[in-house]
Order: sequence, then C-alpha cells, then structure tokens
Amino acid sequence: MRKTIIAGNWKMNKDASETEEFCVELGLYLGRHNEDRVLPLIAPGFPFLTRALEILSGLPAAVAAQDVSSHAAGAYTGEVAADQLRSLGLSHCIVGHSERRQYHSETDAEIRAKLLQLKKSGLIPIVCVGESLAQRENGETEQVVLAQMSGCFEQVDLETGREVVVAYEPVWAIGTGKTATAEQAQEVHGIIRDWLLQRYGADIAGRISILYGGSVKPGNLAELLQQPDIDGGLIGGASLQIADFCAMLDTAVQVVRGDSEC
Ligand code: 13P
Repeated sequence: MRKTIIAGNWKMNKDASETEEFCVELGLYLGRHNEDRVLPLIAPGFPFLTRALEILSGLPAAVAAQDVSSHAAGAYTGEVAADQLRSLGLSHCIVGHSERRQYHSETDAEIRAKLLQLKKSGLIPIVCVGESLAQRENGETEQVVLAQMSGCFEQVDLETGREVVVAYEPVWAIGTGKTATAEQAQEVHGIIRDWLLQRYGADIAGRISILYGGSVKPGNLAELLQQPDIDGGLIGGASLQIADFCAMLDTAVQVVRGDSEC
C-alpha cells in the first residue's frame, strides 16, 4: 500500500563529476533491478539536480531538492522557488531538516510555508521532525515531535496522503553513528501515524510514508524496515557510496518481498 522509499540526502557533498558518476552507476543498477514497491530517491546539491534528472530520466528513481524557498517568486536573492524546481521535473523536496532548523533557525511556521509552496507546485515535501538528545533525556520526545507535526501541518489539507512524506530524524542519531533502535524508532513512528490518523483519518494516514533517518546503514536497515510504521530511510552518510546505496536498495527489496534471509 505504501512504497518503501530509500532516500539519499547528500547534504553539501559531491561535485558535478561525483554526482554524474553515482547517477550513471545507479542507472546501471536500476536497469538490472526493478521492484515497484521500492522507490530509490537521491537529493543532490541544487547545481546538480538537472544532470541527475537527465541521467535517471525514464528510470524508476526520484530526484529531490534539499530545501526550497517559503516564497513563491521574486526578490529573494539566493533562494530557489518551488515552481522553479517543478520546471526542472523534480518530484520531491526535503523541508525542515534539523540542520536547517539548527543552523538557519527555521521554525515550524516557515517549514509549513515551504510545504504549502511545494504542494501548490505539485511537488512532494519530505517533512522532517525529530527531537534533540536533551529533549529525549527529559522525556519530551512525543511532545516535541507532535508540536513539530502540528506546526508544520497546521491547516494543511491533504487529499490522498500520497502528496507528502514525513521523516522522523532524531537529532542525536544524525551523523553520530548512534541509530535509534528499531523499537525506539517504531515507537515514534507509531505516535506520528496516530497523530496523522486523528488529523486526516485512516485512509490518508495509511498512505503517508514515514521514513526514519539517523545513522541508517546497510547493516541496520532491514530491522528498521521490518517495523510496521517505518516505510523507508532518509539516509545521509551511507547514501554517498553507490555500493552502500545499492546494498540498501537490495535490503528494501528483500524486506518488501518478505525474504527470510534479510
Ligand atoms: P546520517 O545518515 O549521516 O546520520 O544523516 C541522516 C540525515 O540527516 C538524513 O537527512
């Protein structure tokens, strides 16, 4: 019912030739492997989106931007609008990543404005939420994550549930090598799913993919994907090597097919 999304957030990594090389390799992999229930997605830097789209054109993979302006168009030097991204042929865009919240002081209100711009342009926002280590240690995880959900989705109507993706990324697990255990992640994913269910009803909530992010790698992905409310990964470091990325796609295919060896 929900696709498993294996999403690589490259952050500020890879130049033009490295992007090209990765995409060519990914294209070769996708030529050999196809599983409709698994969607590979990469989010390269802005300057390389067009080339990534060209190389992956016609293949079952998605390309995403890592951020978007909260404004529609106009005098906002350095910003990129949702309509501009759409004109490239992009399908997805990450918003509200904790690095944007932390280093660029992004608020839930701003993330909501970005989400609305993307929706209006027909792009799928990947909306990131997650608590800090201090908040987890203070027992505030649920409260923090649901406050972020409420802020980002305030008065946001959804028609099918397929027009947004949510990513739970505990800040303490990002780039630290500390992955949330599958149980810890499932607990929060379950809380997010319940919130979506109360807000949008069972049909829509059931169609929204909720990705887990934070030190996901080939060795821990299978256990995460076996949880009922974990519908994929938003992966930083381990998405940069094509071999690791393809290994994670293989894992996702095995999990959706119910192979016992994974
Ligand atoms: P790492 O996989 O490097 O921990 O990064 C996670 C992340 O921030 C993906 O958006």
